[in-house]
Amino acid sequence: MGLTELSELIQSLPPITHPDVLVGINNVDDAGVYKLTDDIALIQTVDVFTPVVDEPYHYGQIAAANSLSDVYAMGGKPLTALNIAGFPKGKMSLEMMGEILKGAMDKAQEAECQIIGGHTLDDDELKFGLAVTGIVHPEHIVTNANAQPDDRLILTKPLGMGILTTALKAGKLSDDVVQKITAIMMQLNKTAAEKMVLYKAHSATDITGFGLLGHAYEMANASNVSMVLYANHIPYLPEVLIKTKEGRYIPGGTINNKLFLDKYVMFSDSIDEDERMIFFDAQTSGGLLISISKETADEFLKELHENGVKDAAIIGEVIPEESKKIKVIK
Ligand code: CO
Ligand code: CO
Repeated sequence: MGLTELSELIQSLPPITHPDVLVGINNVDDAGVYKLTDDIALIQTVDVFTPVVDEPYHYGQIAAANSLSDVYAMGGKPLTALNIAGFPKGKMSLEMMGEILKGAMDKAQEAECQIIGGHTLDDDELKFGLAVTGIVHPEHIVTNANAQPDDRLILTKPLGMGILTTALKAGKLSDDVVQKITAIMMQLNKTAAEKMVLYKAHSATDITGFGLLGHAYEMANASNVSMVLYANHIPYLPEVLIKTKEGRYIPGGTINNKLFLDKYVMFSDSIDEDERMIFFDAQTSGGLLISISKETADEFLKELHENGVKDAAIIGEVIPEESKKIKVIK
């Protein structure tokens, strides 16, 4: 079953009408939100995936950063987490599992989030991730449904992780590029999230499996707007264009994104097929896509750059709803 069929199936489930469910299974958002008191709402999310890098300690950190990201995308603060691991007994050493858990724990510490338990099951293939619980003020939830015409769109991490990790699996990535993408995927979206709350961003989501265009499409759809993206301003590593041109490293998820999204996205003729593919590329532990008022955007971007979110860039703007949800221009 494809991603889109699955999300249609989930949305066809009976709606949840409980008054304290602020963001539920019927919303296409990053995490669920449940109101506990007038001041505190719980954010809950879970994510698990197979290794994207060879080093187990780094894989643990990336998986943790990725799982924590859905709490950050909603403007929340993670509090606690549970490990979830599929463990191929006999095929993998316990020591390696220990390295993964250590990576997750160190990353959770950096996020000031406590891992307080977990669950392991037998699996043919190694899988790992966290179920994360966070909090947010019920009136300050940042959803993906409030992008407003004239807003500026900011992306906080470069693209290309899907294509580059596929090249890595094929043994076709140089060590320095492996280091670069590992550092990008391990980076928490913590600072970006804290600053976007401070600067009263209208809307946000994190860029993961659906790629930049998929998550932008979801935000545009939920907000009843369209978006114009400037291809020249969208950050990606130069190496990804080289690997894309070689043609062999396009992950299945990226191809599915392109197939599904083609009818909603319009490109300028001057953007070639290879570059388009990068904008569809499925990401692991990607950055936040933030919609923020035009007046605040430049100052917010400066604040991000000064606080270590160095790749953040204004990549587009929100326009009133049109038939095409996304236009990518050059
Ligand atoms: Co997400
Ligand atoms: Co997620």
